[in-house]
Amino acid sequence: MKVDGIPYRTIWLDADGWSVNVIDQMRLPHAFAVANLRSLAEACEAIRTMVVRGAPLIGATSAYGLYLALREDASDDAMTSACSALLATRPTAVNLRWALERMREALLPVPPAGRVDRARSLCGEIADEDVRTCESIGRHGLGIIREVHAAKDPGEPVNILTHCNAGWLATVDWGTATAPVYMAHDAGIPVHVWVDETRPRNQGAGLTAWELGMHGVPHTLVVDNAGGHLMQHGMVDLCLVGTDRTTRTGDVCNKVGTYLKALAARDNGVPFHVCLPGTTIDWSVSDGVGGIPIEQRDGNEVTRVSGTLPGGGVATVRIAPDDTRAANYAFDVTPARLIDSLITERGVVPPDETALAGLFRGHHGE
Ligand code: MRU
Repeated sequence: MKVDGIPYRTIWLDADGWSVNVIDQMRLPHAFAVANLRSLAEACEAIRTMVVRGAPLIGATSAYGLYLALREDASDDAMTSACSALLATRPTAVNLRWALERMREALLPVPPAGRVDRARSLCGEIADEDVRTCESIGRHGLGIIREVHAAKDPGEPVNILTHCNAGWLATVDWGTATAPVYMAHDAGIPVHVWVDETRPRNQGAGLTAWELGMHGVPHTLVVDNAGGHLMQHGMVDLCLVGTDRTTRTGDVCNKVGTYLKALAARDNGVPFHVCLPGTTIDWSVSDGVGGIPIEQRDGNEVTRVSGTLPGGGVATVRIAPDDTRAANYAFDVTPARLIDSLITERGVVPPDETALAGLFRGHHGE
């Protein structure tokens, strides 16, 4: 996607031919900056501190992190400990494990002297695949938006509610939930996106609003709790969200608050769709509520907010009493029964085990 007219991906090899560049998402929307990663430690830190975030991008960054680790030491032992360090950065997005397993499987048979070159090209393959996958999710989701548009009064925009950032910043390009939106907008279908701010880290306010704005997609920022009201008043035609881990039975684990949107959507007859690459399916888990590790982050993210000062610069201020204890659950699980469809790179299916297995049979561990 473009930033001020210049096409970008979220992760790429630097012009020096070996180090890795990422868009620094900690600095958005206040500043657009590129961070340069030169070691395993820097890649781990970038994932942990959310300089990069979003399940597919976490996966791609972990692959590049392993490549950087192999530049330091390409032995089997070093590869094992690099994978452990990367796996420990964030617990919920299964793409992290998927990317590292894919890298490890391909690299183990390669003699250490050839591993860095092979790892670098594998990272490129993973990134390119992610772009193609998201494009394909976009095409399948576009069909759904077209249908909704055709049923509306002529000229009326299709109102889409999204949560967190499942946009191009969360992937290598296109995004998952935003890919159909960008394609509909580019095809001349009028779309309007309700963007949940997504407390506590405000990925909606800071990232989704920013990237939709860069692409010229009409959108309105709302507080997280507004979704139910909007749906009761017929102001949402469909919900499109992403996922960090999807069970083989179609339960979806996404940014905390997604479940409440799905409940409100069901109560109001609003279709609730989840956009996902096959890489977010964890075939080993069938019960999302019991089987998916939910990241708990620092309570300071809840008791404080950051923003731009009128004269420039970014400040963080406290919004709760000094001694207030905060719990910070970063994800929740939306059970399959509340989801209308899963929009994947292979097509649109109902969220159930048979449909998912049929679509991905022979792939991703099936
Ligand atoms: O904590 P984050 O910002 O990494 O959470 C991201 C999300 O919850 C996204 O919705 C999810 O990764 C899907 S990304 C296409």
